[in-house]
Formats: sequence, C-alpha cells, structure tokens
Amino acid sequence: MPDLKTNLAGIKSPNPFWLASAPPTNSGYQVMKAFDAGWGGAVWKTLGIPVVNVSSRYGGVNYKDKRLVGLNNIELITDRPLKDNLIEIEEVKKHFPDHAVVASLMVQSKAEWHQIVKDVENAGCDGIELNFGCPHGMCERGMGSAVSQNPDVLETLTNWVMEVAKVPVIVKLSPNITDIRVPARAAKAGNADAISLINTVQSLVGVDIDNFVPYPTVDGKSTNGGYCGPAIKPIGLNMVKECAQDELVNLPISGIGGIENWRDAVEYILLGSTNVQVCTAVMHYGFGIIREMISGLEQYMADKNFNRVQEMVGLALPNVSNWENLNLSYKVIAEIKDEKCIGCDLCYVACDNGAHQAIGLNKETRIPYIIEENCVGCNLCSLVCPVEQCITMKQIDTGKAEVTWRERTDKDDIPKTFNDELAGGIGHFVPKPGDAFKK
Ligand SMILES: Cc1cc2nc3c(=O)[nH]c(=O)nc-3n(C[C@H](O)[C@H](O)[C@H](O)COP(=O)(O)O)c2cc1C
Repeated sequence: MPDLKTNLAGIKSPNPFWLASAPPTNSGYQVMKAFDAGWGGAVWKTLGIPVVNVSSRYGGVNYKDKRLVGLNNIELITDRPLKDNLIEIEEVKKHFPDHAVVASLMVQSKAEWHQIVKDVENAGCDGIELNFGCPHGMCERGMGSAVSQNPDVLETLTNWVMEVAKVPVIVKLSPNITDIRVPARAAKAGNADAISLINTVQSLVGVDIDNFVPYPTVDGKSTNGGYCGPAIKPIGLNMVKECAQDELVNLPISGIGGIENWRDAVEYILLGSTNVQVCTAVMHYGFGIIREMISGLEQYMADKNFNRVQEMVGLALPNVSNWENLNLSYKVIAEIKDEKCIGCDLCYVACDNGAHQAIGLNKETRIPYIIEENCVGCNLCSLVCPVEQCITMKQIDTGKAEVTWRERTDKDDIPKTFNDELAGGIGHFVPKPGDAFKK
C-alpha cells in the first residue's frame, strides 16, 4: 500500500487531507469526529477576538441538478470564546497526537499577535495559519484579505508572528488580487514556513428580484461575501501553479479551493501542493467523504507506482507554461459517433452561432457531421454535447514541423507583424514600422 503520510514544512499528518478553517472545525467535538472518520489534519476555525456573527450567513449557486456548485458566506471568524477553543485544542491533541491540528489566527496589534501565538502553542497546536484571506467584514477592519492586498503589511505581520512562533507558520492567501505571487513573495520575505491558498473569492451570489436585496439577506440588507466550492477550483489550481513555479516564492503549499474528491486533490498535488484542505464539500456531504478520498488516492498511487505523496508533488508543473510555448502545428478536429447522437442539435447551434461553422446537419436524419476544413479543434461541440463520449477530438497530421510562437522564424507560415498579415490587402490600414510608437 502507498504511504499517505505528509509533512508540510514540519507539520506531519497521516494523510494529505486536512479540513480547512471554517465551520467544520469550529469545535473539538467536530475535529475529533473528523479525525475518527479519517481526516489527517484540521485547521481550526479562525481564532481572534470573538465576533458577533449575523443571521442568515450563506448563499448558494445551483446548476441544474447540482446543488451548491458555489457557496457564498458572510460569516466572520469564531464567535466562541478563545478560552473554550484553547481547552478543546488541548483535548483534541491528547486524543490524536499524530494528527495535525493547526490554529488559524487573525488579530491586529503586535502585542495581540504575540499573545495569541503563545496561547495556541501552549494549547499544543502543531502549526499556525495566518488568515490573511477573509474577503468580507474583517477586511473592512484592515484584517483578512486587506493584508494579502498590501505586501508590506503582510510581510510585517508575518515577521511579528515569526519573532515568537516555535511551530511552523503557514500564511493563508486571498485570491482577491491581480497577481497572487505578490503576497506569496511577501510571505517568503516575512519568513513564513509555508503558504496556503486560496481563501474565498469576493462575491455576490444573486439578488432577490422581488425585494431588491442580494443574498444572503440580513433583515432586508446584504453585503458581499466569500465564494467557495467546486466553482472556484479553477482559480485555486491556477494560483497554486503560479506560486509553485515562482522561484522567489519557493515555499511548501497547502492547496485549497473546490476540492470534493481524491481526483481534485491529486490535481492540486500535481500542480505543486504538498497537501490539501477542504471546506465546502464537508459542509455539503459531511466528514464521511474522506473514506472515498483515501481509498481513491491509494488506488491511484498504486496504479501509478507512487510510494509516497511527495513523489507526486508538482509533476504537472513542467507541462504548464506561457501560451507562446505551445505547438502551433498541433491540430485536433471533432469526431461524432452517430450511434450515440440523440439529435439535440446543441453541437450544431454552438458551432454555427458561437464558433466556426464546422458542423452540418443531415437534412433527413438531423444527425450532425463535421466539416473538417472549417474545424479548428476548439472543443466547444464536445463540451456542450450532453452525451458522454459522443463527440471526441482526434489528432490529425498537419504535416508541419512543431513550431511555437516564441520560436517561429521567417520560414514559418506565421505572421510576425500586422504588415505581414495585411500586406497587399487593405494596405491603407497597415501601420508602417515605427508608426505606432512615434512621438
Ligand atoms: C462558512 C465559511 C466560513 C469560513 N471561515 C473561514 C475562517 O474562519 N478562516 C479561514 O481562513 N477561512 C475560512 N473559510 C474559507 C475556507 O477555509 C476555504 O479557504 C474556502 O472555503 C475554499 O475552500 P472550499 O472550496 O473547499 O470551500 C470559510 C469558508 C466558509 C464557507
């Protein structure tokens, strides 16, 4: 059997699956129940000066029969007294010494940071996570995502924590920023041991069009919240990749965002995460999903001959780079399996109205067919087709040698300037060399 044990910057856990800081880690009762079910670690619901939370708190986005494709929340940090949480952390560690218990923290002044770090360490936590990601409520007070958005502040606060911390410190980043590498580099400059990402994406999930109030509503008013769940996985994957590839970040990563099953977790690991954290999927389906996650990961690792999770970390990174490095000579076209087609016309309409007019319809049978010379291989028809494996993409031989945008030469049939492309055509629109930047 493969070994699932992981070590994130010195924080050890029996497997790479941690609960993210959120309602499922609100109490010792929940964390112990989760560990019993098989979870390897838990990041405690963010501790600080307890807040008063509102009612209601969550909004959901459903798509057809899939409930909670995205979840939006306007909840703040813990509303339970710090003392109660500390007692429960101690209790959990007594029962589960080999599981990872990480204290998520959010306070303001240097004295508060120093005090709370000591408090949670005394309670026996294995690591600390700094919540620099919450995009509602706390950021209006200069905390949460406001810290990720200001690299100098992030570096300073991280340094304050590192001055006193004895256990490894993870900086949790907000995705509400243009370039995630900026706060990640600031975490490195502040001497953090690891980063985790992503926290929630600032959002409004919808508006009650009868009463003119966005969801969730609190006594007739609302506020922006943080979006999470399957809908944000693509954002999380890309940001993890950005950090994992950046030589100036160079920190272990705990990947978060839309993870529901072992496959999602493997994707995060292949893009550079040492372990993963899960919130929405547990709020939706409960702690029991861990059983399938563990057995699925074990089976995948056995099939691929991986002995340890660490062997998989970042394996997809060499295969993702800038667009300019993609092979422009590579071509796929769509192929339709007539016997599977249900005649819904969705591929025809999508290609005709929204793509390249590369699908025709047989007048009698209404079965679509590919007009190969028009097909650019965009995938759209295969994505809209409701029948599994009815439309697939096949590679065709273009007879052209591999060439990338970056490496193209004069011999390649690829325009290098507007002039090349437009020469001899609508010449009067063609800027002459240097025109564009003339002073
Ligand atoms: C209701 C709710 C409360 C949350 N509270 C916290 C929190 O206290 N601290 C924190 O760092 N993240 C908090 N999060 C964010 C999650 O830890 C996680 O980063 C985010 O939900 C993305 O993961 P997911 O797609 O698996 O839910 C919260 C998320 C939800 C849905």
